[in-house]
Amino acid sequence: KHGLNRPKGFGKFRPKKVGIIGAGGLMGSGIAYACLQNGLDVVMKDVSKLIAERGRDYVRNKLHPLIQSGEMTKAEGDKMMHRIVTTEDPREFETCDLVIEAVFENAMVKQKVTKEAEVFMDEYSFMASNTVSIPITKLAEVSMRPDNYVGLHFFHPADEVPLVEIVRGARTSEETVARAFDFVKAIQKTPIIVKDDWGFYAARVQNTYILEGITMLKEGYPPALIENLGRQAGMPKGALAMADDLGLNLVFNYESQAGEHYGPKYIPHPAVEALDKMLQELQRPGRHKKAGFYTYAEDGQRQLW
Ligand code: NAI
Repeated sequence: KHGLNRPKGFGKFRPKKVGIIGAGGLMGSGIAYACLQNGLDVVMKDVSKLIAERGRDYVRNKLHPLIQSGEMTKAEGDKMMHRIVTTEDPREFETCDLVIEAVFENAMVKQKVTKEAEVFMDEYSFMASNTVSIPITKLAEVSMRPDNYVGLHFFHPADEVPLVEIVRGARTSEETVARAFDFVKAIQKTPIIVKDDWGFYAARVQNTYILEGITMLKEGYPPALIENLGRQAGMPKGALAMADDLGLNLVFNYESQAGEHYGPKYIPHPAVEALDKMLQELQRPGRHKKAGFYTYAEDGQRQLW
C-alpha cells in the first residue's frame, strides 16, 4: 500500500480553514504562515491565547519586510492578518477542515490535545500530527476517528522547506491520505507518502548523509573536500554543516534510538563513536553552541574547525 491510492470517485479536497495546535511554537507558526500565504484561514491554538499570539507575531514579522519592499501592500497584509484567529479554546476547530498538532514531542501531550480537538471537529475533517518520532499508529490509539488520523511531517522552517511527509498509520483511511495530499498541494508544497516507520523517509536519508560525511572525515578526507563534494552532488549543504545545524545531539540520539526500533538486525553506524567523541570529549555539539565541525563567529560567519 505505497503511494497515493485515491478511492474511485473521491473528488479533490479543497481546504479553506486549518486549525493548528501549538501555534505559538516554532513549527506551528511556520505551518500557519504557509497556510495563510496560500489563501487559507487559520485557527492558532496554544496553551493560552497569549502564547498563540506569538504565532501571530511570527506572521506579522514575516509580512513586515514584504510590505516595506513593496512586494505586498499594507491592505493585503492586514487582510492576511484578519484571517488568523488566536485562541486557547478547541471549540474554534468546529469549522476547520483539518487540524494539525505541533505540540511538544511527547505522546501523552499529543494524545491529550487530539482528544480535546476531536470532540469539536466535524466528522469529515481530519486530524494530523507533526511528530518526528512517535508512531502515528500509536498516537491514533486515542482518536475517536483513527481512520481520519494521519501524519503530516513538516520541516523547519515550515514556511520555506517544500517537502512534507504524509505518514499513513495502520488505520488511516485512503480518503484521509488523499485529503492530506490535496492539502499539501494546496499550500504549494511537495507531498511524499511514507510508511509509519522510524525516521519516515527524510530523517533516514539525512542521517545517512551526515554519518557518511563523518566517516569520510575519520578516513582522512579533508573536511573542505567532504563539504564541497556534497554540494556539488546537489545537496543544499555539506554533511558536516548539516550536522552542526541540526545539533550533534539530535543526530546521535536518532542513531541510538534507531537500534531500539529496528531491533537486533540493526548495526550501529561506525560514525557514532566519532559523534560521541565530539559531544563528550571535545564538547562541540553544533551551531547552537557556536562549536561543532565548524566554529561560528558572533556575526554568523563560520570556519571549518
Ligand atoms: P516548540 O516548543 O517550539 O512548540 C511547541 C508549542 O506547543 C509551544 O508553543 C507550546 O506552548 C505548545 N503546547 C504544548 N502543550 C500544549 C497543549 N496542551 N495545548 C496547546 N499547545 C501546547 O516545539 P517545535 O520545535 O515547534 O516542535 C513541535 C512539534 O514539531 C514536535 O512534535 C516536534 O518533534 C515537531 N518537529 C519539530 C521540528 C524542529 O525542527 N523543531 C521539525 C519537524 C517537526
